[in-house]
Amino acid sequence: MNASSDLRMTAIPLSHGAGRMPALGFGTLISDPTLTITATTAALEAGFRHFDCAERYRNEREVGQALQAGLAAGNIAREDIFVTTKLWNSNHRPERVEPAFTASLERLGLNYLDLYLIHTPFAFRPGDDQDPRDPNGNVLYDHDVTLLDTWKALETLVDHGKCRAIGLSDIGLNELKPIYESARIKPAVIQVESHPYLPETELLDYCKRNGIVFLAFAPLGHGMRPGLLEDSVITAIAARIGKTPAQVLLAWAVERGTALLTTPKSAARARESFDISALPQDAVEEIDRIQTRQRLNAVVTTGVPGFIPSGGRT
Ligand SMILES: NC(=O)c1ccc[n+]([C@@H]2O[C@H](COP(=O)([O-])OP(=O)(O)OC[C@H]3O[C@@H](n4cnc5c(N)ncnc54)[C@H](OP(=O)(O)O)[C@@H]3O)[C@@H](O)[C@H]2O)c1
Repeated sequence: MNASSDLRMTAIPLSHGAGRMPALGFGTLISDPTLTITATTAALEAGFRHFDCAERYRNEREVGQALQAGLAAGNIAREDIFVTTKLWNSNHRPERVEPAFTASLERLGLNYLDLYLIHTPFAFRPGDDQDPRDPNGNVLYDHDVTLLDTWKALETLVDHGKCRAIGLSDIGLNELKPIYESARIKPAVIQVESHPYLPETELLDYCKRNGIVFLAFAPLGHGMRPGLLEDSVITAIAARIGKTPAQVLLAWAVERGTALLTTPKSAARARESFDISALPQDAVEEIDRIQTRQRLNAVVTTGVPGFIPSGGRT
């Protein structure tokens, strides 16, 4: 899709004139608060301008602190970065949406968001407990709110100028289509797991036809080994073109027209992951032909974050 060899600068237009999303995104799912700050700072210094956050990650304050300091030190304007955060499952009731949004904004130290996502299509029992369970450990879902109810509350945030675009995460075609069809403000972005073992071609085609940005998480398969970083097709291409396996995987994601989220933790990895360039066409086709299929996250079926235990490969 990109004729330019400088994939690092690729930015994808959002529907409704809501600006452009830099294709290379830095994800902030980092459990350690100090590491959140150093990794976010390093990503900004390496050139990342797209930052993905979530109230569920419980580190919006640290991300905000790193961004404020980094913008000031690098003389970078707020408008030059793209910041997303996400509404958690326990805040799906419409009356909880604006307070959750405002709390995220306050923790991030920002006065608007570029993108607000519904983190998963599953509503949990409303309240401050992010992981409500019954005495047997079963998740307590909330069956008195629909995804469309929550979506309408997000539309109001756009109406009030609090965020530029809205979207959904961890969603499949079956849930996306009815929202797309009923929405007054159409989803601008969906964020889903995708990599060569989970290309999600049908979902990607639907997004392309309807002007929805497809934002891939786990482009490196969460860095798991064995896994994508050690796949023989990927390592052979990397050796042939003088790039690292991570750079090959990230370039493939951008070349197929998706944006991506990756989470380098060190400055060296941030520089490596930002330094991608166009792949030869035959390399793209070789990756497209990989037959292994593997979903790493069960969140799409339960709303509960976490990896599928090993053995989930199909
Ligand atoms: N919507 C959702 O439900 C959902 C779920 C999961 C993730 N996400 C988002 O997606 C973001 C991306 O996370 P991810 O785990 O999916 O990303 P990923 O890029 O697939 O994997 C990150 C892992 O890859 C390793 N890595 C990073 N750069 C590397 C490089 N250049 N070479 C080799 N290994 C490298 C890191 O290892 P080190 O730790 O050793 O640096 C890290 O463990 C998250 O931060 C979050 O924002 C969203």
